[in-house]
Amino acid sequence: MMLKLLALCLFTFLIYVPIAEARIRHYKWEVKYEYKSPDCYKKLVITINGKSPGPTILAQEGDTVIVEVTNKLLLENLAIHWHGIRQIGTPWSDGTEGVTQCPVVPGDTFKYEFKVDRAGTYLYHAHYGMQRESGLYGSIRVSVPDNFTEPFAYDYDRSIILTDWYHKSTYEQATGLSSIPFVWVGEPQSLLIQGKGKFNCSSASLTADTCNTSNPECSPYAITIIPGKTYRLRVASLTALSALSFQIEGHNMTVVEADGHYVEPFVVKNLFIYSGETYSVLIKADQDPSRNYWMTTNVVSRPPNTTQGLGFLNYYPNHPRRSPPTVPPAGPIWNDTAPRLAQSLAIKAHHDFIVTPPTTSDRAIVFLNTQNRINGYVHWSVNNVSFTLPHTPYLIALKNRLHHVFSQTPPPEGYDFVNYDIYNVSKNPNATTSNAIYRLGFNTTVDIILQNANTMIC
Ligand SMILES: *[C@@H]1O[C@H](CO)[C@@H](O)[C@H](O)[C@H]1NC(C)=O
Ligand SMILES: *[C@@H]1O[C@H](CO)[C@@H](O)[C@H](O)[C@H]1NC(C)=O
Ligand SMILES: *[C@@H]1O[C@H](CO)[C@@H](O)[C@H](O)[C@H]1NC(C)=O
Ligand SMILES: *[C@@H]1O[C@H](CO)[C@@H](O)[C@H](O)[C@H]1NC(C)=O
Ligand SMILES: *[C@@H]1O[C@H](CO)[C@@H](O)[C@H](O)[C@H]1NC(C)=O
Ligand SMILES: *[C@@H]1O[C@H](CO)[C@@H](O)[C@H](O)[C@H]1NC(C)=O
Ligand SMILES: *[C@@H]1O[C@H](CO)[C@@H](O)[C@H](O)[C@H]1NC(C)=O
Ligand SMILES: *[C@@H]1O[C@H](CO)[C@@H](O)[C@H](O)[C@H]1NC(C)=O
Ligand SMILES: *[C@@H]1O[C@H](CO)[C@@H](O)[C@H](O)[C@H]1NC(C)=O
Ligand SMILES: *[C@@H]1O[C@H](CO)[C@@H](O)[C@H](O)[C@H]1NC(C)=O
Repeated sequence: MMLKLLALCLFTFLIYVPIAEARIRHYKWEVKYEYKSPDCYKKLVITINGKSPGPTILAQEGDTVIVEVTNKLLLENLAIHWHGIRQIGTPWSDGTEGVTQCPVVPGDTFKYEFKVDRAGTYLYHAHYGMQRESGLYGSIRVSVPDNFTEPFAYDYDRSIILTDWYHKSTYEQATGLSSIPFVWVGEPQSLLIQGKGKFNCSSASLTADTCNTSNPECSPYAITIIPGKTYRLRVASLTALSALSFQIEGHNMTVVEADGHYVEPFVVKNLFIYSGETYSVLIKADQDPSRNYWMTTNVVSRPPNTTQGLGFLNYYPNHPRRSPPTVPPAGPIWNDTAPRLAQSLAIKAHHDFIVTPPTTSDRAIVFLNTQNRINGYVHWSVNNVSFTLPHTPYLIALKNRLHHVFSQTPPPEGYDFVNYDIYNVSKNPNATTSNAIYRLGFNTTVDIILQNANTMIC
């Protein structure tokens, strides 16, 4: 039946529509620091062509995306990672500084060029220092080929990225993390929906020049929708710290995609989302169209100290600045784990798109992720080895067989997971450092098991 349907579609297209050629999507970006007030509090933000989040990359499966990035940060290097894009054949465009490429130095332009080989919802973000947390991020939306029908229908799609936002600069944050004693920046000051939040300026002694709740830059993000239509919201999170819930007042959401893969549809009131994840949810504009409806995001899984992030659905033709007449829904209780677990268990590959994983592996690597100390500094490590970046990016070193530029001693393949008590804080918190890598045999199947364990008491 499915095949027949596809054949019919293809036949129709062959007759009436010329099959689209893969296109080139060309972007020119200028990255710089600018004063912005994303949550009404003015601070330096990294922008792309004047905006944070940056422009959404729109492409169709099979297209080539070219992004010419000019680093106008003046004093900082730059690298941009295309999160979820496999970079088959173009690893040097992956944008992970020190791993696949040298960073782009101030004043330089770098041309990222890659093929988007799989439809779905993806992200891009800085991969140098903490630039992502300064605002350098955005969405990638890869649509399906013309001859392909998705397993669900909708009229329009929109992208939303959720982030947490700190008023302290990333330099202060990074300095605290790499000091003795370790200084944690604390909970974020606000949650941003598509780069917009609202800090309560009168809760801190700030002048109106620094924090102005009337600044249009921090008016809530609104999505205008047409009554009766179905929208695909592509929701992503790029938080530094927070696990989030996302809710739309009066509207259930049907989850249809997770991290670029179709899932069996399921309905949620709250979508729980962790950093680096993307989901597509369908919403129907089927509520009373004479008013607007809140979109909210809340911190979950740690005691929240950040007010909820707010945006709203603007039912056309209501005014896009008209706040909903209601009190925003409070969101789930931060420590109620049942709906989060239910969501995780509900995520199943769509029955038409099941990829059977290999039943055997050629090699297994078992990782234990812990918090340790090195010379008294707090470092995170895997199997007691904390990663340090070599001066020469690995891809360049491997291509040119530069064996002396990083350690050739293989890192540990595992740990004593049978006897290790992950709940017990280690008596010896000391770990070592290495820049060695795990080298995998070409076309081999590797089973990687990653476990989180005790957080050392700082
Ligand atoms: C769609 O078109 C592409 C390129 O023309 C082709 O490779 C692919 O097999 C087609 N897919 C289907 C489902 O017909
Ligand atoms: C919680 O917020 C208050 C101000 O609202 C702040 O003084 C305090 O440091 C915050 N705590 C953490 C852990 O971030
Ligand atoms: C903002 O903070 C002030 C002072 O702490 C408080 O009186 C006021 O209720 C807060 N406003 C909102 C909207 O939370
Ligand atoms: C606050 O922002 C509003 C809107 O842009 C502006 O009219 C007002 O002058 C600003 N207040 C101060 C003290 O800068
Ligand atoms: C959302 O789903 C719940 C549970 O299925 C249902 O009780 C509720 O009526 C739905 N709400 C809307 C607005 O459709
Ligand atoms: C959840 O946290 C609240 C405090 O925020 C506490 O009163 C309550 O007992 C906690 N519930 C559970 C199930 O741990
Ligand atoms: C851990 O390393 C510190 C030096 O940074 C050293 O003083 C301490 O003795 C080490 N602890 C153990 C248990 O080896
Ligand atoms: C890390 O080293 C400590 C101290 O030697 C040891 O107790 C612990 O088991 C090691 N952990 C791993 C994952 O190898
Ligand atoms: C941690 O290990 C010690 C002995 O190594 C044991 O006495 C203690 O009960 C363990 N604690 C927990 C929380 O498992
Ligand atoms: C990888 O291995 C499989 C069989 O294990 C083989 O069918 C396939 O052709 C190999 N791919 C490449 C690129 O060598």
